[in-house]
Amino acid sequence: MSEVSVTKDAAPVAGDLVALTGVNKHFGALHVLQDIDLTIARGEVVVVIGPSGSGKSTLCRAINRLETIDSGTITIDGKPLPQEGKELARLRSDVGMVFQSFNLFAHKTVLENVTLGQTKVRKIERKAAETKARALLDRVGVGTQADKYPAQLSGGQQQRVAIARALAMDPKVMLFDEPTSALDPEMINEVLEVMQQLALEGMTMIVVTHEMGFARSAANRVVFMADGRIVEQATPDQFFSNPRSDRAKDFLSKILHH
Ligand SMILES: Nc1ncnc2c1ncn2[C@@H]1O[C@H](COP(=O)(O)OP(=O)(O)OP(=O)(O)O)[C@@H](O)[C@H]1O
Ligand SMILES: [Mg+2]
Repeated sequence: MSEVSVTKDAAPVAGDLVALTGVNKHFGALHVLQDIDLTIARGEVVVVIGPSGSGKSTLCRAINRLETIDSGTITIDGKPLPQEGKELARLRSDVGMVFQSFNLFAHKTVLENVTLGQTKVRKIERKAAETKARALLDRVGVGTQADKYPAQLSGGQQQRVAIARALAMDPKVMLFDEPTSALDPEMINEVLEVMQQLALEGMTMIVVTHEMGFARSAANRVVFMADGRIVEQATPDQFFSNPRSDRAKDFLSKILHH
């Protein structure tokens, strides 16, 4: 690797898997992402928190190119996001995404949900794709549900299937946008445990969540957003014990004393 002198926020450095530089995004008059500079190293777990409407989901969707950006660059493993077509489909599968709503294909079985992307995008042979799907379903604890349809599963089970489906594509990074906030309380932990395990195994993860216990135990870094900006970022210990900005202090007092 060549020795290039770069400042942390100006360009991707070796080991950065995801790099956003000067990213701006508007929805009409609303400036929803404002000069976002953010790099995520290989194997790093970053938890993104912030008030409603601060741009967390838009940030995730931009990284997966479900949203276009107005200016700036986003690279995944050193490559800029492609505009469209086959390249974009491949990029999307490099970036696994799990949403608040489970987004499984309702008319496909659990097994088919986890097999489909492998055969269509990765061009893996059906038999091999099914073997891998079953192994992943076992890993997230829903192996016995393989032949059911999503509606026959609990929310926690569906969300674990959604994680297995994303993992089936061998993603380089996993994005989670409030994966547990639509779940009944008793199902939250079974999903967080799967995520915690993934983090331990070294998966690069960007996680939007209000689960501060998860942030404390699994995150390498907390990124706090407000009004479309990254207001501060720190280790979970530093952030929770000593938030610097008034916005973060205010936010934490609301969620921690709720
Ligand atoms: N497709 C859209 N068209 C117009 N405005 C949008 C669109 N998507 C999001 N917004 C607005 O952009 C802002 C940021 O939204 P975003 O969903 O990224 O926030 P968030 O931080 O994820 O909030 P929450 O915690 O409620 O999920 C909000 O004001 C939202 O209303
Ligand atoms: Mg959101």
